[in-house]
This record gives sequence, C-alpha cells and structure tokens, in this order.
Amino acid sequence: MNNFDYYNPTRILFGDNHYTRLPELIKEKTSKRKIMLAYGGGSIHLNGVYQNVMSALDGFVVTEFKGIEANPEYSTLMKAVEICREQEIDFILAVGGGSVIDGVKFICGAVPYEGEPWDVLERKPGCNFEKAIPFGTVLTLPATGSEANSGAVISRSEIQMKRTMGGPMFFPHFSICDPHVVASLPQKQIANGIVDAYMHTLEQYLTFTGENLVQERQAEGILSTLLEVGPTVYIDPKDYDNAAQFMWCATQALNGLLRCGVTTDWATHMIAHELTALHGIDHARTLAIVGPSLWKHELANKKDKLAQYGSRVFGLAGSKDQIAHAAIEKTIEFFLKLDIPVDLKSYTDESEKTASIVEERFAERGWLHLGERKNIGPAQAKEIIMAAT
Ligand code: NZQ
Ligand code: ZN
Repeated sequence: MNNFDYYNPTRILFGDNHYTRLPELIKEKTSKRKIMLAYGGGSIHLNGVYQNVMSALDGFVVTEFKGIEANPEYSTLMKAVEICREQEIDFILAVGGGSVIDGVKFICGAVPYEGEPWDVLERKPGCNFEKAIPFGTVLTLPATGSEANSGAVISRSEIQMKRTMGGPMFFPHFSICDPHVVASLPQKQIANGIVDAYMHTLEQYLTFTGENLVQERQAEGILSTLLEVGPTVYIDPKDYDNAAQFMWCATQALNGLLRCGVTTDWATHMIAHELTALHGIDHARTLAIVGPSLWKHELANKKDKLAQYGSRVFGLAGSKDQIAHAAIEKTIEFFLKLDIPVDLKSYTDESEKTASIVEERFAERGWLHLGERKNIGPAQAKEIIMAAT
C-alpha cells in the first residue's frame, strides 16, 4: 500500500430537510449576515431549490450572482470576484452542479488574490492562491464530487482552454445533498452524472492490483451500485431511493477516499478536458470517448486490473485476456444504454485536427508522463484520440 495523507473537512448533510441548517453552518464561518448566493442558468427557480434556500436565509442580506454557465467561464467568474471585493463579501453559497461549485471555488481563491488569477490556473511560477474565502454548497447535480473535494475546473472559451486548480482551502465548509434534486434533471444530465461518477471510480481503480484491498472493494462497490441503479434513475429520476444511491455514489467516487494508498491514472480526464475546450462536448461525454480507447491502447499494461474488474464487477469468466476485453465491451454497453456515444465522430468531423492540437498542447505544457505508469505523453494522447473516432 502506498503512503497517503487523507484530509476531508467537508460536512455532508445528506437527505431531505437540511436547508434549515444553513444559518447555523454559515455563522460558523462569518459573523456578518451578508453573503453571496451563486448559481447557474436558473434551474433552481424551477425545482423549488431557490425557494428552500431563500426561506432558510431569512434575515441574511443576500447578493445573488446568477449565470455561472456549464463549464464555468473565467470572464463570468471575474465579475463575481469584483462584486465580492466591492461588497466585502466573505462567504459564498454555491447552489448548483459541478460548474457552479467549481466556479465558486475559483471566486473564493481569486477575491483575496492580488495578481492576475488566470496566472494561477496556468501554473505560472510563483503564482498560487494562498488564501480563500470560505463557502458552502447546495448540490443540485450528482456527478463531479465537487461538493466533497477541493478541486475545480475552469474554462476560458476565447482561447479554448480548460484548466484545473485546487488545494486544501477549497474544500466546501458544508454541502447539502438532497436527492430530490435529481427529479428535475434533464435525462441527458443524469446520464452525464452517472458516467462521470463511474469514470472517477475507474480512474482510481484501473491501474495496479492489490495496492489497497479495501479501496479496491469500495471502488467495485461504487461501480456495481452505479450499474445497478444507473439505468433505473435514468428512466425514473423521481424514485427518491434510487436517486439517493446514485447521489452518494457520485460523492464517494471523488471525495478523496478511493485514491488512498493506490496509484491513480487520470490520463483520460486530462485528454478529455481538451475535447470540451475545443468542441464544447459535455465533460462526461468526453470521458466516454477517451476512456475505452485509452484502455484498449493500454491493454497490455492494464490487463490484470481489467480482468479483476471484469470478474468481480461483471461476473465474467474466461482467460485474463478474454475477461479484460469483455470488461471494456461491457463498459461501452453501459454507456450506450445511457445514450452516451463512445466515438468522437458523433460530435465532430475534425478528429485528426483535434488529435494534433491535443498532441501539441500536451507537448507545450510538458505533459509527457501521464497515467499510472507515466507512459502517456503527446504522441499517445494523439493515438488514443485517433482510435476513438
Ligand atoms: O445552470 P442551471 O440552470 O442550474 O442548469 C444546469 C446546467 O445546465 C443543469 N442542472 C443542474 N442541476 C439541475 C439542473 N437542471 C435541472 N435540475 C437540476 N437539479 O445541468 C446543467 C449542467 O450542470 P453542470 O454543473 O455543468 O454539470 P456537472 O455537475 O456535470 O459539472 C460539470 C463541470 O464540472 C467539472 C467539469 O469539467 C465541468 O466543468 N468537473 C469538476 C470536478 C471536480 N471539481 O472535482 C471533477 C470532474 O471530473 C469534472 O472535471
Ligand atoms: Zn470527471
């Protein structure tokens, strides 16, 4: 088992009727009764979440910041940064999915930062967020695990870039996770959420066998649960119990526990982010394109773990080779059942150009050694995209 440092201070309030806890939880971080409420395009006005939050915040002065888009935009977020600075806001409540929560993480770091915040995302030497204002979340879309982790992904569409950030200051102080929100999700977002959570689990699992037995079993438990409830939630999102199973899987998939003591991969995510940056494809859908292609590319290296996945999660039998192949096919079948294509040509005719741009970007950034074996660089990223068309 590898050494690890596990830290997760986020309080998760899971289930219904936790909104009334908001005042007490916010007061733990600010003595002011003035906060920013940040949200997305307005789905929270249609499903009752806005009303629940605002009634709980009775007595607070609330500055609303509406309009954080899917794949949160740097320019939008910088407007919120200005408002927080002008109004001396020192607590933000993020109400939304991964994009709103990630956007708020960025705002919280950028408000006290004296330089150009994009430099931090570009990882310019000496540029780091050293302080952050605190925030809490009300999750409306189970998918990213952002409600329980300290990472964020920020987009800048005018230069077709998507960059990651994070650090211990960016754990939410609390997250209210009420599975009722699943009922109002468009079917497409439910499919996205299931696939994103599934892929987060696989990124931390499909590497080496036997490093941390309990984390392996936990990953297999999350994968099996998503396979079991995913298609049902997709068809009937109003079933509270299934929605709750799905929501808890998504939180668990990326709250930091699965990576303890194991070697992780994450090359699929790093390649996939470029497909969103270049073509605007939903995050989960980019993972479904890249993941299976990467596993086939790396079949020789990943064979043992793919075989373990196939036999334990899908109950497959046969030789290691047969099970490893069949496990990839079963995973593709699962994605297709959720109407998520696994080929790039479903979204663009520019596969070759895309693959070349990604190769160049990886080279420029010095991303030469991704993956658990540090063997995925620019050339491999290009091959993986080309094979996914
Ligand atoms: O903006 P509104 O109107 O709220 O609509 C949203 C948005 O259009 C809608 N939605 C959310 N909850 C809803 C709802 N519609 C009806 N009912 C509800 N209850 O769903 C749409 C998509 O929302 P978004 O937040 O973009 O989706 P998701 O949660 O999948 O987040 C994707 C972003 O998270 C990043 C991705 O890269 C992407 O930018 N990720 C963040 C991670 C992290 N912080 O750990 C890890 C992930 O790998 C991922 O990279
Ligand atoms: Zn993801």
